[in-house]
Amino acid sequence: MPRKIKRTSNYQLTLDINNESFISPPRESQKTWILNRLVTELSYDLEHLSAVSSSMLPGAEVGVSLDREQSSLSDNDIMEDWQIPIMKKMAEFVTESGGDVLEIGMGRGVASDFIQSFSPKSHTLIECNDFIVSDFPNWKNKHPGCNANIIHGMWQDKWHEVGEYDGILFHTYPLTHEEFVEHVAQSTTFAEHFFAPASEKLRSGGVLTYLTNENDSLSRAHQRSLLKHFSRFTVSVIDDLNIPDDSRDSCWLPQMVLVRAEK
Ligand SMILES: C[S@@+](CC[C@H](N)C(=O)[O-])C[C@H]1O[C@@H](n2cnc3c(N)ncnc32)[C@H](O)[C@@H]1O
Repeated sequence: MPRKIKRTSNYQLTLDINNESFISPPRESQKTWILNRLVTELSYDLEHLSAVSSSMLPGAEVGVSLDREQSSLSDNDIMEDWQIPIMKKMAEFVTESGGDVLEIGMGRGVASDFIQSFSPKSHTLIECNDFIVSDFPNWKNKHPGCNANIIHGMWQDKWHEVGEYDGILFHTYPLTHEEFVEHVAQSTTFAEHFFAPASEKLRSGGVLTYLTNENDSLSRAHQRSLLKHFSRFTVSVIDDLNIPDDSRDSCWLPQMVLVRAEK
């Protein structure tokens, strides 16, 4: 059975393929090439992780301890301040055509403020938290002539009510432990479960943006998942993020990649 080994002074990688027909290109040399490449790539990732791990922040314990669906939450519980520059960039992406924007998860209204500052043709929000929705009229009053409207509920339950958009900004978080396990721990990125629904509601050339917890590039699994639903994407690194040591977000490096996926 094929075995690939990579040894360095720091680690040893061993890959054993138990089933002869697992990965079976026409020529044996192709199989050797593919598996070598895979082991080399994993080894690059390990070297990179080792290089950056000493710059990581400790962060707080990750998980969902609150009932976040209907609680009255502090600003920091909803979104930590270090994410504000990211909200601005995401708002720029979804308003670049000046068309119809859908925003999932209003939270503190920071991204909503930025979206309004770029004067989209229309601005629709979906938000499940009663406290946040009840404050929507106050938020709207701060924006004279604002054309925004809000749909109250979980986006999953309200999807049939929304039309087609030129830009979708997705920024929710897991509301329960089950959602955390399914969409964070067992997923390439939290927004992955939203890729298919987003693509369904975007016009051709429309843009989806979402927050990742990837720091300097996208994993292959993440890229493959995106390319199932979008024709292209760009990735930009937002750096110098002022993330506190006790951040509860699972982002431990002072930079994050932001995705702009195009239908
Ligand atoms: C991180 S906050 C959004 C922060 C926002 N981008 C800002 O700039 O203030 C996430 C929001 O998504 C909402 N949310 C979470 N899951 C949702 C769902 N399934 N449907 C609708 N809203 C959801 C939460 O109630 C919360 O207000």
